[in-house]
Amino acid sequence: MNRIAVLTGAGVSAESGLGTYRDNGGLWDNYDPMEVASAEGWARNPGKVLEFYNMQRRHLREVQPNQAHRLIAELEKKYRVDVITQNVDNLHERAGSTHVVHLHGEVTKVRPENSCNDFDGFSEKLVFDVGYDPVVLGDKAPNGAQLRPHIVFFGEAVPKMEQAIDLVSRADMVIIVGTSLSVYPAASLYRYARGEAPIWLIDPKPVSLHDPRIRQLQTVATEGMKELCEKL
Ligand code: APR
Repeated sequence: MNRIAVLTGAGVSAESGLGTYRDNGGLWDNYDPMEVASAEGWARNPGKVLEFYNMQRRHLREVQPNQAHRLIAELEKKYRVDVITQNVDNLHERAGSTHVVHLHGEVTKVRPENSCNDFDGFSEKLVFDVGYDPVVLGDKAPNGAQLRPHIVFFGEAVPKMEQAIDLVSRADMVIIVGTSLSVYPAASLYRYARGEAPIWLIDPKPVSLHDPRIRQLQTVATEGMKELCEKL
């Protein structure tokens, strides 16, 4: 076995203290995604969207990667590991993962609001890393446009999906950690795994996927990754 694709969602960062979206008390219990994370929401009230991601950046500054992030990074000592995450946090990178694809963008980055929403459709020089600093109305890019979060809003294309499908289809094993698999197209990614590639799923909730290749470790990410790494 040479290549592992690790598909992660908010659950992998839960033990770091970052909220998930759909668990009880999750982000979408407290915020309407259509107001703070959609193209229409940005058009209607960009200030509200900017504050939502400013809050996420403030929180991200205070937390650290957890043992699950670190064990995923350590797999790179033995395998080629591609992390394909729906998360917009930077905890995989801070834990040491070196091949991370952010399907839904990155909360520490911004770009001019008039740039196309195809991340690959324009040069990276239009993407700025603001770290954990806030961005407010009136903060402009060099081209004079309002800066917006470098996030894939609901209603926008997922430009890195093709790259993600290629990486999953080349993997000898797929590990799914901490995602409710409720948002497409990200949720369909595991289906591109080769027929003979085992698929491990780590989640404390039972996930009913009718795919005989999937074996679930019904536990939290840190425990599940520890158990899985002992098997590898
Ligand atoms: N360890 C592992 N999994 C966990 C843990 C934990 N400690 N705690 C919760 N989970 C699981 C939950 O059981 C659930 O299956 O993590 C999953 C979190 O699901 P969601 O909150 O829906 O998060 P996610 O799947 O990442 O959401 C996908 O939805 O709103 C959009 O863009 C947003 O990227 C996000 C996408």
